[in-house]
This record gives sequence, C-alpha cells and structure tokens, in this order.
Amino acid sequence: MTLGFVGTGTITAAIVRGLRRDGDDRPIVLSPRNAVLATELAAGLPDVQVAASNQDVLDRCDTVFIAVTPQVVAEVMGDLRFEPRHRVISLVATVSMRRLSELVEPAGRLRRAVPLPFVAVGLGGTLLYPTDPEIAALFDRLGRAITLASEDDIDVLTVASATMSAYFATMANIDSWLVEKGIPAEQSRAYLAQLGIGLAAAAADHPNVSYAQLVHNYATPGGLNEQLRQHLDKTGAQQSYSEGLDALFTRVKGR
Ligand SMILES: NC(=O)c1ccc[n+]([C@@H]2O[C@H](COP(=O)([O-])OP(=O)(O)OC[C@H]3O[C@@H](n4cnc5c(N)ncnc54)[C@H](OP(=O)(O)O)[C@@H]3O)[C@@H](O)[C@H]2O)c1
Repeated sequence: MTLGFVGTGTITAAIVRGLRRDGDDRPIVLSPRNAVLATELAAGLPDVQVAASNQDVLDRCDTVFIAVTPQVVAEVMGDLRFEPRHRVISLVATVSMRRLSELVEPAGRLRRAVPLPFVAVGLGGTLLYPTDPEIAALFDRLGRAITLASEDDIDVLTVASATMSAYFATMANIDSWLVEKGIPAEQSRAYLAQLGIGLAAAAADHPNVSYAQLVHNYATPGGLNEQLRQHLDKTGAQQSYSEGLDALFTRVKGR
C-alpha cells in the first residue's frame, strides 16, 4: 500500500517521520508543496518520493491523506480527480464527512483523522472516524489510534487537544517559581519533564483507575498535594478551567 499526502507541512512531516522511525516501509508519495520540506523528507528517508503535482499523488496511491490548511482545502480538492478506488483520510479538523464526500466524489472510502505532532516520536492519541482497522493500525504505530463512535466526538475531543498551551503555561509557572527559589534551570526542567512523564504513565498504564481516583491516590490526607489541590479548588481555578472548556466547545461547534 503506497501512502499519499496532499499538503507537505508540519503534520505530514510528523507522520512520515514517525512511520519511518517505527520501521514502516510502505512507499510514501508527497505533494510538491512545501517544496523545501518535501525535498528534505525525500532526501533523508527511504522510499519517500515527491510527486510532480497533487494529481500525481492521487494517480500513484490508493490511500491519500489530505493535510492542507482549512483555508485552501476546498480549492485544492476541487482541482483533483478522485476515483472510486481512493481511500481519503482528511486531517483537516474543520471539514465534516458530509463536506468531504462532496469534495472527493467518487472516492469510495472516507475517513477523518486528527493526529498530534508527537506522532513524529511515536507518542500521542490519533482520533479516527469512522472505523478502519488498517488506518487504526497505522496510527497505533505512532502512539495510539482512538476510533470514535460518532463524528461529533471529534469536536468534543478537539477541545481536550486545545489544553496543550495551558498545560505548558502551568509548567512554565512552576519552572519560574523553582528558578526564582534558586534551582538551576536545567535541573528544574529535567525534574518537571520527568514528573510529567511519570504522571502520564500513571494514567496510561492503569486505564481502569479513574482520574478522580488518581486525584486521591496522589494526595495524602493533610499532605502537600492535597493542600495545593484544595487551594486551587477554593480559589476557583478548576471551575475557571471548566468554563474555558465550555467556551472552546461553543467556538468549535460554531465553525
Ligand atoms: N499541525 C498539527 O498539529 C495538526 C494536527 C492535526 C491536524 N492538522 C491539520 O492538518 C492540516 C495541515 O496542518 P499543518 O500544521 O501541517 O499545516 P502547514 O504546516 O501549514 O502545512 C500545510 C501545507 O500545505 C501546503 N499547501 C498549500 N497550498 C497547497 C496546494 N495548493 N497544494 C498542496 N499543498 C499546499 C503548504 O505549502 P506552502 O508552505 O508552500 O504554502 C503547507 O506546507 C490542517 O488542516 C490542520 O488543521 C494539523
């Protein structure tokens, strides 16, 4: 199975690098834009080629990922001739299945997927709708595929993926506090990064332990962890977070 990509930007590069890093040897054909990145990927990785045009990608592949920005997606896809043999996987979060089916007619199989940049290093959940065992297996190589039961669930989970900058803002806050107290910057960074890895592993390795249970497991009654959590609860930080999620959801639904 040759994998084609229309749009060679950040997320295509992450998927292609992640696949090769994991030893996947399926041939890959990239569209020529962005030319610098496409050439770099083709020069540095085995069996990655740059097509002559977007149409050339389709002509050479049955499975095609669409990875252009929402602003140009209709124009780009409108110029392409799809065939029933094509399986099209749109990575463009704002294009619904209904709209996708209009844009790629008469392609036979349509999917939506939402990977995260960490797929480049084999980490991160990739949302997939509808079910497709072959594509799920591909994203399992790059972290974990999460196949959704409903297209609407993509919108809900998109809100969760928008917490990344806020997460780093919390880390930056703690980091600055540590450095102000005299901890060398490298030590602060190493300590916080390892803390993050450990906490993520605690959740990933024990999927049957709820987050609510982890809140208790990681707080000795009367201890420091409990004190900080209660302080944040009392000062409204968690409530404010929930309100922020609601506001994002309203925005996502309105697109
Ligand atoms: N980045 C992420 O983490 C992420 C995650 C999930 C989904 N997505 C989705 O994936 C899509 C791509 O995101 P991205 O971050 O990879 O964007 P990006 O880095 O801007 O890449 C988009 C690429 O499309 C190319 N392009 C523009 N016009 C084109 C055309 N007519 N034909 C072929 N290619 C064309 C651009 O080339 P030029 O540079 O030459 O203009 C650019 O390299 C978006 O819809 C985004 O919502 C992104």
